[in-house]
Amino acid sequence: MDKVDNNRVIIFDTTLRDGEQALQQSLNERQKLQIALMLEQLGVDVIEAGFPVSSPGDFSSVKLIGQNLKNAIPCGLSRAVERDIDAVKEALSSCERFRIHTFIATSDVHVQDKLRKSFDDILGMAEHAIKHARQYTDDVEFSCEDAGRTPIDNLCRMVEHAIKAGARTVNIPDTVGYTIPSEFGNIIATLFNRVPNIDQAVISVHCHNDLGMATGNSLVAVQNGARQVEVCVNGLGERAGNCSLEEVAMALRTRKTLFNGLYTNIVPTNIARASQMVAGICNEKVPPHKAIVGSNAFAHSSGIHQDGVLKNRSTYEIITPESVGFKENNLHMTARSGRHMIKSRLNALGYADDSFNLDDVYSRFLELADKKGEVFDYDLESLLFFSQTMEDKTQFTLENLNVICGGSGTIPTASVRMKIGDEYFIDSGTGDGPVDAVFNCITRLTRIDCKLVDYNLSATSGGMNAQGKVDVDVMYKGRKYHGRGLSTDVIESSALALVNACNAIYRAQIIELEKAASHNGMPADPDSQEAIAAMEAKAASLVRGQI
Ligand code: KIV
Ligand code: ZN
Repeated sequence: MDKVDNNRVIIFDTTLRDGEQALQQSLNERQKLQIALMLEQLGVDVIEAGFPVSSPGDFSSVKLIGQNLKNAIPCGLSRAVERDIDAVKEALSSCERFRIHTFIATSDVHVQDKLRKSFDDILGMAEHAIKHARQYTDDVEFSCEDAGRTPIDNLCRMVEHAIKAGARTVNIPDTVGYTIPSEFGNIIATLFNRVPNIDQAVISVHCHNDLGMATGNSLVAVQNGARQVEVCVNGLGERAGNCSLEEVAMALRTRKTLFNGLYTNIVPTNIARASQMVAGICNEKVPPHKAIVGSNAFAHSSGIHQDGVLKNRSTYEIITPESVGFKENNLHMTARSGRHMIKSRLNALGYADDSFNLDDVYSRFLELADKKGEVFDYDLESLLFFSQTMEDKTQFTLENLNVICGGSGTIPTASVRMKIGDEYFIDSGTGDGPVDAVFNCITRLTRIDCKLVDYNLSATSGGMNAQGKVDVDVMYKGRKYHGRGLSTDVIESSALALVNACNAIYRAQIIELEKAASHNGMPADPDSQEAIAAMEAKAASLVRGQI
């Protein structure tokens, strides 16, 4: 990697190596390629695609990724032994450019207790490995594993040796996430002060997050001269994870002046998509409060915050959700929301100020929010059209549920009995799993052709009697609906959650009809039971696909 622009911080992504090695289940070749291509679109400079010597599967996915990257540099990891280095070279030698990343531990505890060698032996092994790798490519990176706990004199000696042997990038990992920013910054500063040939290599950092310092340590390292940061999307990685790509990229961007104009090639608007893809493929949910990419990262809940954001977003937002590729409005409507928020949401839904009485809607909104927790757009609309909240209107009720989901070889099968309006219906069928089988029955019975977009299971208390709470989000006719179910049986919770969402869809259909009726010059009398009954019948037919 050439050092043309000293303001650019190279982003070396190791989601497919350090991130992947920490997953419960490893990824297949196709999944890894999909992630690698996304990382390339995200603007990552170097993609560590795997550890080729570790398994034939890793070898072939590194090879496949190398063959498919156009801009990013593919890289493979190797211990400081010839066999590993040869495996990287074999996997990547058909690429125009590739990097060999070789490493050996340098801290006393690793050198003495893990490797059972002297520090001089380690120096020799590192030098040999780097020279061996340099026969295959100029782009050789050397890592001093556990540099964060390596005595500084040894670290300086090792870095100097590695550069002399031909390493173009020297990586300083805080392998066990032990250091704190002032300390780690000092390590990097000392290397720049004491290693005479330091200007002949890019200094990189690779920080783990065991004490929650990974991003802080990486940023302080760039302030002290490091120009490559090793990261994982969503902060995946061994134990508490690696430094998160999105945090470093957005910190440098948001505080550009503080960082004296340092920048990365990351395309910020691709961050949300990359995060969601990695979370989905790796089956690792992003924690809601995760900086930049968590579902709560741009949510404003308190009335004071919502009011501020509506007046000027920068009161409580240092980054806009759009700037990292999120599109959704994230002002959650809860009992903490103020009048300003409710008025602005209604305006955004197309209701002019003179079409509703804010005092009335707001007081009924608070009642509903107290009962329900979060209120959605369709709930808010129901407050406009009906004098009572529609929460109690249930068109669909789960009456009975039977599921067979034995061991291997058994096809998950469900039978569901539901009350729909005043009638009872039964359906049975199979699915990919028990929940899928139940969902298939319910969507057939209700004839609501909705698509499940999010499913969340959590326990409401500890111990054997814990209730399983299921939250589902489904899409129906371009709108998202939420449902919640609670039971000691998680399959039943799942069924109840979907039925709950179907009832929300049903209520929304009534409101749609009400809206259409008022547009047609037939304002409905909200207190007229006949009008509501007629509309309910029509809505029931609508959602059951009859009209
Ligand atoms: O954490 C670490 O030290 C590593 C090295 C292999 C770079 O992952
Ligand atoms: Zn690591």
